[in-house]
Amino acid sequence: MATAKAHTNIALVKYWGKRDNQLILPWTDSLSLTLNEFYTTTTVKFDSELSQDEFTIDQMPVDEKNFMKLTHFMDIAREKIELTQFAHVDSINHVPISAGLASSSSAFAALAGAIYEASGKPYTMTDVSRLARRGSGSATRSVFGGLAQWHKGTDDNDSFASPIQEKLDFGLEMIAILLDTKKKKISSRSGMQNTVTTSPFYHEWLSVVENDMRAMKQAIADKDVHLIGKIAESNAMRMHSLTLSADPHFTYFNADSLLAMQEVEKLRENGVECFYTMDAGPNVKVIYDCQDRDVILASLAKVFGRNQLVVSQPGPGITFMK
Ligand code: DP6
Repeated sequence: MATAKAHTNIALVKYWGKRDNQLILPWTDSLSLTLNEFYTTTTVKFDSELSQDEFTIDQMPVDEKNFMKLTHFMDIAREKIELTQFAHVDSINHVPISAGLASSSSAFAALAGAIYEASGKPYTMTDVSRLARRGSGSATRSVFGGLAQWHKGTDDNDSFASPIQEKLDFGLEMIAILLDTKKKKISSRSGMQNTVTTSPFYHEWLSVVENDMRAMKQAIADKDVHLIGKIAESNAMRMHSLTLSADPHFTYFNADSLLAMQEVEKLRENGVECFYTMDAGPNVKVIYDCQDRDVILASLAKVFGRNQLVVSQPGPGITFMK
């Protein structure tokens, strides 16, 4: 039996599109910041008495759809690690589920970590990252703390994440503006698939990411928080422009998202350098240098209320609990 804790990550250069839906191999590399504030803890216990896997999420048994998804993931793990037993899996999310706060990233990273640890077999964190990817692409990066890069790779074996800087030695920080914590309407899975097959601009996205990855890694090496934020914002808006150009077109923005982005732009006009990013949900995350935290918080709190703002420092990679 083992318990693993993994944190969500927010991509600064986004993953948006698979070239292999079964193996979850992406079209591009991506790069993210793991957040301290949002995480999942998962306990896995293999049991020779069981005739099928058993799952609870937040102390509730999972529905049929989630059971099928999770037991399929367990089958992939059993095949990789050469295990035969079914398992009890209990997971607790400290993340508003499906609100674009990437709960699947922490969930599958914690599950993959707990499976390897409970298996009693030798493994590396690369193995964990590779397995986590099969549950949800972004989970491959949540295995590591700080800034991590997912290498798109060529097959199941070489598509995994590695850390760029696990402990940050500069002041990169994020505020999540919680605008709507209800379940999202279009999952990232179907949204990105629709985009890949129908957006006439998808091909351009591949070179956007290539350039952004190069520039982002340089900005990180230079500890240039403002440039990191600027590249992340532009990358996110280009990702979202793919959804608007898909058929049928769709968007993850709502009116409050636009309002939040305007507030960030207003702060910038007033000389406070901060930037925004968004994922497959309406919540907006603000990227800034921690020395500007108070002024940004005060200004956003006037519009959204302090309770809707969650400050998060960079977080650690997977940890195991006794
Ligand atoms: C916008 O990892 O949730 O957050 O691989 O289909 O499970 P699946 O998708 P998922 O997509 C994440 C999309 C994103 C960008 C990112 O995290 O890179």
